[in-house]
Amino acid sequence: MKVKSHQKFEGIYYTGFGDQYRLFTKNIDKGHIVYGERVLLEGNDEYREWNPYRSKLAAAIMNKARNIYINKDTTILYLGASSGTTVSHVSDLTKNTIYAVEFAPRSIRELIQNCVSRENVIPILADANFPELYAKFIFEEIHVVYVDIAQPNLTDIAIVNCKKYLKEGGILIHAIKAKSIDVVRPIQQIFNDQILKLEEAGFEIMEKINLAPYSRDHLLIIARFFQNKT
Ligand SMILES: C[S@@+](CC[C@H](N)C(=O)[O-])C[C@H]1O[C@@H](n2cnc3c(N)ncnc32)[C@H](O)[C@@H]1O
Repeated sequence: MKVKSHQKFEGIYYTGFGDQYRLFTKNIDKGHIVYGERVLLEGNDEYREWNPYRSKLAAAIMNKARNIYINKDTTILYLGASSGTTVSHVSDLTKNTIYAVEFAPRSIRELIQNCVSRENVIPILADANFPELYAKFIFEEIHVVYVDIAQPNLTDIAIVNCKKYLKEGGILIHAIKAKSIDVVRPIQQIFNDQILKLEEAGFEIMEKINLAPYSRDHLLIIARFFQNKT
């Protein structure tokens, strides 16, 4: 099966259509896979299938995100890297650095194993509640802060990290899991509260993408940050 370039997004590929539609990224770490994903070979290239049930960014693309703001020149601060499923695909997309923060020792061990030969991934063992802890590792302007942290204060974590690291006009990609915030309140109310909090902190909401059926009760927000707005 031949892979084709995605119509909208640089560095993303697809095969099939309808129920058979699948996303891929071109593997920069040839010979290695990260989470048991399928690989297609074409000439000298390897394409890793990007599973939307395992990666919220892939789910957002499947659900017709207009723009993900990640290309070959994007520098990313990624909070909640886990063992590197999504980080590895993002690392296929950009030539710049991904600062991948994770606080669970077991996950960071797996992240290091999975990304050891990906030169653009810097794993950082730290609690994202305290962004000053990793200031010594980050020396450049951050274009995108990606947050996928299943914690009740996930939006506060996003805001403090953007205020410290994200460039003016930079992009926040923020995955909100309603059940991590409140198991009782209506989901839409929970999402609205997080959106309001972001707007009050100076973010302009660009897109809100419901991630069903891939991740239930999840919203992916894409927002632009203006430090000087608040
Ligand atoms: C839903 S998983 C992330 C999945 C990953 N983004 C992916 O798509 O491959 C959430 C991760 O956030 C991490 N996490 C939760 N709270 C954190 C914190 N305060 N600082 C850093 N990592 C945190 C958890 O240990 C977990 O690995």
